[in-house]
Amino acid sequence: MLLRSPAKVNLYLRVGPRRPDGFHSLVSWFCSVGLEDTLEFSPNPSGAVTMSCDLPGVPCDERNLIIRAAQAISDLCPGHPGLHIRLQKRIPMGGGLGGGSSNAALTLRALLMLWRCSLPVSRLNDLAAQLGSDVPFFLHLPSAICRGRGEQITRIAPPVSKAVLLILPPIEMPTPMVYRQFDQMCLGADLETVEHALPDPSLPTADLLSVLVNDLEAPAFAISSQLADLRTQCQHALGRPVRMSGSGSTLFTLYDEIEQAHSAAGVIENQLRTKAIACPLGVLP
Ligand code: C5P
Repeated sequence: MLLRSPAKVNLYLRVGPRRPDGFHSLVSWFCSVGLEDTLEFSPNPSGAVTMSCDLPGVPCDERNLIIRAAQAISDLCPGHPGLHIRLQKRIPMGGGLGGGSSNAALTLRALLMLWRCSLPVSRLNDLAAQLGSDVPFFLHLPSAICRGRGEQITRIAPPVSKAVLLILPPIEMPTPMVYRQFDQMCLGADLETVEHALPDPSLPTADLLSVLVNDLEAPAFAISSQLADLRTQCQHALGRPVRMSGSGSTLFTLYDEIEQAHSAAGVIENQLRTKAIACPLGVLP
């Protein structure tokens, strides 16, 4: 069984002050994008659950959320057969695109199906949240507002914009480091006020772009002035707002049609020598 595991962008990300548990409450609009890993599930005669990856350097043990997700389901389905999971990695790591979280959510779903186990939705959501703050969103594709530390999900229509341009600089942004910088800069939005100003998915692309905010841009750009400069250069080259996804380093902007996003990718690659790809926005795997 071969399944696709899409990436996400945070179209909108407002972050509150640090909570006593060390996490930050947030209000974020997540939307899936058509940049996908694939996971192939096949029988493993050894009886164990193992994984491999086509990209060298990707851990294939408990450090990988796929194995942790498989262990969580394995505990609920005693006597299940062995399984090998082959990951084809296309989503860059440390890029704010949620690749590992997407893989984990897909593994939870796939193993429940393959091993014919059932779980109440709320229990599945809890398991996903234990794996990581972004994992529950991937059980509710393609578009949702996520609250709490990310685990409280409300579905929302995807934007009318059909395409996203992803700009992928070769910079890894570890999420905990960006949140630490956020705290050091004493940042933190008043999320009650934010609730009254959520962007409307029916806005035309130009209007939507003008109201998108990511509160993690300031700390990420304080950590990497190279990323801050690249954002400014992208905005000049494309003549439109460019935002960061999650804790970075991926930058993005939106277009009505995929063809426009493809020509914008050409502009970024030719003028700024930075990898850029055009993808459909709001995809279902
Ligand atoms: O939940 P996840 O493992 O993705 O979080 C990684 C790190 O990001 C956390 O350890 C924490 O430092 C930070 N984080 C946060 N608030 C959130 C989500 C993540 O502070 N809502």
